Amino acid sequence: MIGTARMIPHSRPSIEAADIRAATDVLTSRQLAQGGIVDQFERGMAAYFGLPGGVAVTSGTVALEVALRVLGIGTQDEVLLPSYVCAAPLLAVQRVGAMPRVVDIDLDTFNIDPSAARQAVTSKTKAIIVPHLFGLSAALSDLHALGVPIIEDCAQTLGAVGQGRSVGSAGVITVCSFYATKPLCAGEGGMVLSRDESLLERARRLREYDETPSLYPSATNLKMTDLHAAIGLAQLNRFGSFLERRSALADEYRSALSGATPIQPLVPSGYTHTYYRFVVRLPDLADHPDELQDLIGRFETQGLHCRKPVFRSLHRYLEMEGFPAAEEAERTALSIPLYPALTDEEVAQILLALRAEWS
Ligand SMILES: Cc1ncc(COP(=O)(O)O)c(C=O)c1O
Repeated sequence: MIGTARMIPHSRPSIEAADIRAATDVLTSRQLAQGGIVDQFERGMAAYFGLPGGVAVTSGTVALEVALRVLGIGTQDEVLLPSYVCAAPLLAVQRVGAMPRVVDIDLDTFNIDPSAARQAVTSKTKAIIVPHLFGLSAALSDLHALGVPIIEDCAQTLGAVGQGRSVGSAGVITVCSFYATKPLCAGEGGMVLSRDESLLERARRLREYDETPSLYPSATNLKMTDLHAAIGLAQLNRFGSFLERRSALADEYRSALSGATPIQPLVPSGYTHTYYRFVVRLPDLADHPDELQDLIGRFETQGLHCRKPVFRSLHRYLEMEGFPAAEEAERTALSIPLYPALTDEEVAQILLALRAEWS
């Protein structure tokens, strides 16, 4: 296999004839900017979550910022968020001028630790951003009990259930990303969804910057194009098949790794996992951070692009200490490529590489 295998990327979108046809139809129509297809995509996503409406924007990061702004969060306020996540939630909090209160994660699930969140709540806490990482719901009921408005970040997880709640249904606001590597992709794009029509109306006013009777503070051009929405809508139409394929692949990886050293993704009782990422943990590497990079290098020689799933924990950007679980995840977590666009040959190559490393 070494030297001859074709490199399997860590992510690859599922682009099929339906997506190409949808994009071509928009091009043919000459209606490229935000229009009727964005409208349809908003209604389709809202229906998926069982919510009355959504407002499409340019990215998931922008959607998080809009979520904070429509909740009226600003310089006097604090927002809770987990440390082990990409930079987007922190950037959104900083852009509205609020104080980020970063808390540790539950190492077993990689999601925000509700008891750490509870300890961080103060009278200034106005919201908690709850990303559902890698395809597993955060502990929504426990977080709900904090009594702080929840912004659910579903960028990585659509269609999962946790503690009896479907992701996206429990927050005051739900946020999506349609970036190219996300479970449902449009190239770039994001959405803010809510059951509260007044919040959605505020989000629309932030997005529509021109031809309004008066200027709305912080409004700018945040619009999604019909071209992106058409791809998103085509993906949404077959999203169920994406989830089935991810689940079947996860079963194969699980049996290939059965009895081997890596700790496989946990699915707590009462939860489902949608396997946006198949992230294993290697506790032995906790004291040897360089070995994770060596392991990634060994997989590369097998034609397999594995990755650290989070580039840098947020507390490290903020030069804070005291986040043992996030730090252990950084040192020990490895994401193995898993996505619906993998061919059967690629899956066979991945299984071979996993067995070669850990049998
Ligand atoms: C959990 C989470 N939230 C938000 C984002 C930001 O989304 P986007 O890349 O569309 O700005 C991402 C994307 O990396 C993400 O993983």
